[in-house]
Amino acid sequence: MQTITRLDMLRSAVAGLRGGGASVALVPTMGALHEGHLTLIRAARGQADHVIASIFVNPRQFGEGEDLDAYPRQMERDAQLLAAEGVALLWAPLPDEVYPEGYATNISVSGVSAGLCGADRPGHFDGVATVVCKLFNQVLPDMAFFGEKDWQQLAVIRRMARDLDLTRPPVEAIHGIAIVREPDGLAMSSRNAYLTPEQRKHAAVLPRAMRKAIATLGAGVPQGEVLETLRADLLANGFDSVDYAEVSDADTIEPPARPDANARLFVAAKIGGTRLIDNMAV
Ligand code: PAJ
Repeated sequence: MQTITRLDMLRSAVAGLRGGGASVALVPTMGALHEGHLTLIRAARGQADHVIASIFVNPRQFGEGEDLDAYPRQMERDAQLLAAEGVALLWAPLPDEVYPEGYATNISVSGVSAGLCGADRPGHFDGVATVVCKLFNQVLPDMAFFGEKDWQQLAVIRRMARDLDLTRPPVEAIHGIAIVREPDGLAMSSRNAYLTPEQRKHAAVLPRAMRKAIATLGAGVPQGEVLETLRADLLANGFDSVDYAEVSDADTIEPPARPDANARLFVAAKIGGTRLIDNMAV
């Protein structure tokens, strides 16, 4: 596996991979890889002739006071993991290949970006959309893979790709991959590394409380009441705050009047300074 940091090198390496009409998949990441990321890589390998992974800790998607500086960086270990998974090429752009001096362009996807994490983290999805658009234009993949762990992010990227003609119809080129969980149900995340052993135990309450809430909704208990109980459950079991606990439409990320076939439960909650998110079909 080759690690490439400059765009001109990337372009010629991708042209090499594409020789003879081979297809190329992109799996964008911010590194500190875990089984969730590696599951995306395996799915990509199953669909494309060659997989390109990217690692770039994107400053534009971190807000003031967020964890940009603390975000785990482990490039060598990540490169070994990716090579072992048969990744052809690691795109690890130097910062000025993504944001050259004087950089002034922003991509903002309205609607799907507005609620949930978009409301809590102003500018976050602009940063995500901007960097993913750049990565697509740099790599020009046939398809790209994202995790449902970040469901709203996936919805934002799908909307942007459709709006800006970034995919090539009729291929459904943006693939969403189901959440990979720890044995106790906690969704895998690079940020789980911030948790102390004590906090890590509490964190598993999140998916459990969400499953309980979904069962209660199914039993006909009013949504407002269920979401209040869910919040209370988290706060009574080691969580310090709940940013949101909402049932929203899976595609538009807007609150549906009542749960329907396309509804999902979305939660973001903090243990100490660590913000955990999760989502499940209702
Ligand atoms: P990062 O958090 O590194 O995640 C990279 C990809 O892995 C995302 O598509 C994310 O949804 C997926 N992923 C993470 N944990 C997962 C899990 N437990 N199960 C399934 N998939 C999981 O998301 C980002 O980076 C960035 O915002 C990025 C898209 C790279 C843009 O900077």
